[in-house]
Amino acid sequence: MVAAFLPALHQPLPKALIIDCDPGVDDAIALFLAFATDLPILGITTVAGNVPLPLTYRNARNLCALAGRLALPVFAGCPRPMMRSLATAEDIHGATGLQGADLPESTAAKPSQHAVDFLIQQLLTASDPIAIAALGPLTNLAVALIQCPQIAENIDQLVIMGGAMGQGNITPSAEFNIYVDPHAAQVVLSAGIPTTLITLDTTHQVLTTPARLAAIRALNNPVSIAAAGMLSFYGQNDLHRYGLAGGPLHDPCVIAYLLAPELFTARPVNIAVETAGEHTIGRTVVDWYGDRPSAAVQVIETVDADSVYALLIEALGRFSV
Ligand code: RIB
Ligand code: CA
Repeated sequence: MVAAFLPALHQPLPKALIIDCDPGVDDAIALFLAFATDLPILGITTVAGNVPLPLTYRNARNLCALAGRLALPVFAGCPRPMMRSLATAEDIHGATGLQGADLPESTAAKPSQHAVDFLIQQLLTASDPIAIAALGPLTNLAVALIQCPQIAENIDQLVIMGGAMGQGNITPSAEFNIYVDPHAAQVVLSAGIPTTLITLDTTHQVLTTPARLAAIRALNNPVSIAAAGMLSFYGQNDLHRYGLAGGPLHDPCVIAYLLAPELFTARPVNIAVETAGEHTIGRTVVDWYGDRPSAAVQVIETVDADSVYALLIEALGRFSV
């Protein structure tokens, strides 16, 4: 278990949080970061993405078990995008989705409720607005919004890892989460929900350098050992492709933003998602300069990467042996 801690916060934590994810190594690190804090997590919803849904669902359950969160409900969601066939990323995350860690199987009960129904039920019945951290393709949230549009009124903040203003990663134009389900991204980003988008332009600054990996390895508790094992494999592809100093930590930036938004700066923008272009499908087209009468979407512009990583290393150190 972890002795939860509160980083020196400059603004209150969300009153309730749902994390939607496709574990995936960086999703795993994001979950560990969240589990080491007082973030009030109502549940974890899983979606097909980095690996197929049976694996993202199993991985999320096993990550909760390893971190002592057996009671946290994990829900299986959509097994494929709304319109396109599923694209996965085993080259980045390994065949299991969590290459580098051998996690014990969770013994937690499996809720029968579908993730989309969980999202709708929670958002319709919540006494306080709910924050959503979206770490994978946006299929679950889009389907929930189509099925029950009024749930948008009870989402007080949506923080998405997705999109690219510069180079993509799955294609030169597009970032993986948006590319896998661009139609879902279009539904979500046009729903008028107060949204913060953390794109590759930001996450490619938060890198798992050898020194940071060594610091995680030195923590030597079951969670940090699993994190170090996964991070040792993860990002090798990106590291060689982009010549980065280490694997980029995409999804933990979402949790870090919820914990310490002062480590980021953001800018309201108009944004569109390309859903058809042969070479550009999944591109997030961000308008920095157009008129923005009431843009609901802000894009992260800068990040204090050193502080984000320091937050993560401290969090991973909170898990006891
Ligand atoms: O492009 C990076 C994003 O796609 C991350 O969320 C990663 O886990 C994958 O889902
Ligand atoms: Ca992810």
